[in-house]
Amino acid sequence: MSRIAIVGTGYVGLTTGACFAHLGHEVVCADVDADKIDRLSRGEIPIVEHGLDRLVEEGIRSGRLSFVIGAAQAVTSADVVFLCVPTPQGQDGSADLTYIEAAASEISPHLPYESVVVNKSTVPVGSARVVERVLDRPDVKVVSNPEFLREGSAVQDFLHPDRIVVGSTDQAAAIKVSSLYLGVAAPVIVTDPASAETIKYAANAFLATKLSYVNAIAAICEGVGADINDVVLGLGYDHRIGRDFLRPGPGWGGSCFPKDTRAMLRIAEDAGYDFGLLDGVVAVNEEQFDRVVRKVGEAVGGVLDGRTVGVWGLTFKARTDDLRDSPSIAIIGRLQAAGANVRAHDPTVSGPKPGLPEGIEICTDPYAVCEGADAIVVLTEWDEYRWLDPAKAAGAVANRAVVDARNLLDRNEWVRMGFSYQGIGR
Ligand SMILES: NC(=O)c1ccc[n+]([C@@H]2O[C@H](COP(=O)([O-])OP(=O)(O)OC[C@H]3O[C@@H](n4cnc5c(N)ncnc54)[C@H](O)[C@@H]3O)[C@@H](O)[C@H]2O)c1
Repeated sequence: MSRIAIVGTGYVGLTTGACFAHLGHEVVCADVDADKIDRLSRGEIPIVEHGLDRLVEEGIRSGRLSFVIGAAQAVTSADVVFLCVPTPQGQDGSADLTYIEAAASEISPHLPYESVVVNKSTVPVGSARVVERVLDRPDVKVVSNPEFLREGSAVQDFLHPDRIVVGSTDQAAAIKVSSLYLGVAAPVIVTDPASAETIKYAANAFLATKLSYVNAIAAICEGVGADINDVVLGLGYDHRIGRDFLRPGPGWGGSCFPKDTRAMLRIAEDAGYDFGLLDGVVAVNEEQFDRVVRKVGEAVGGVLDGRTVGVWGLTFKARTDDLRDSPSIAIIGRLQAAGANVRAHDPTVSGPKPGLPEGIEICTDPYAVCEGADAIVVLTEWDEYRWLDPAKAAGAVANRAVVDARNLLDRNEWVRMGFSYQGIGR
């Protein structure tokens, strides 16, 4: 079993740390956020992630999982150090490596001789070299091991991944990192760092492409009178296409796809390739936000100014509390810019929170959103919205109109209650 340090205890770092402790390794997780570390040390999970609380508790109880403030303290006796810090979008669209470089420079003097540093953050091609240069430690090898987990099913994805990708120019370092995953049944692809880094961006860009594709087909369905749900069913049974990521919606978002597609465009540009296909994918997504806003405008009679819109769902998808680059935020921003007043509910939001647009009223009961609303919009596919009672909503709204941007509700039930119903692609 190995001694592992995790630098950056966020969605990826905490999941990685807790899962490696579960696999039997000795793990120290570090973060610069003292409050987060304090809560974690008490077994309190600062994020919504199914099954993570049980693993953290198990790790603390077994003595294999601990939390410290600051990276330097975490790495002093580590065999392998995972960098799981943010890589946000830089001003020119490329990934901003400031956090990675800062973490590398902080740990460099404290790394044990011949330890291995792993880039688990999503980093552009060439980043393994960047870290090597900042570390300036010839005895320390840098390996790329991108993470493919999805928020909402992070633990399951980490412990049962489709594949593990390890990129290294050093065979011993690659074996060291691969062997940490003993006990995880998945193919391991060992390659060079540039290929490993490219795999991650290519995967996210492909998934975003599938989503934009299905949203574009949904727009066509609306024009020709087809039903996207049936179209997707017919497409998804084709094994060459597959069902995953073929669900139409309000547009894609979240902490990865927007920044990773833009970074991929930048990588392509730097490589001398005009990635027009991916440009189109991003453009379709922006259009999708506008399409949803237009639907809400139609639902309230054409003019959004002064209207009240009730929003169900703020997170970028269900089963997470992550609001980063959520389509809801983009759509609410557009509704507000058109003069609408927005009241919103989300199961993970109980009041003002960083990342939420100013001026929205947060309701802690989904029916409270309906009071006086000229339209209700479903923006996140939380299961609990599926079962909301249209009769109860009808008694509260000012105007019976619903825009279901997730095709979540039972259309017939809502229409029976006198609501005008607009879904996506049907
Ligand atoms: N969130 C996902 O679903 C997901 C999936 C796959 C890959 N990724 C990638 O993983 C990386 C991390 O993403 P995340 O969502 O976990 O981010 P996050 O913002 O949830 O977590 C990052 C953490 O790093 C901490 N941090 C920053 N600098 C630090 C330092 N010098 N020392 C110690 N801690 C430091 C921050 O305080 C924060 O807690 C990104 O590159 C992201 O693209 C994310």
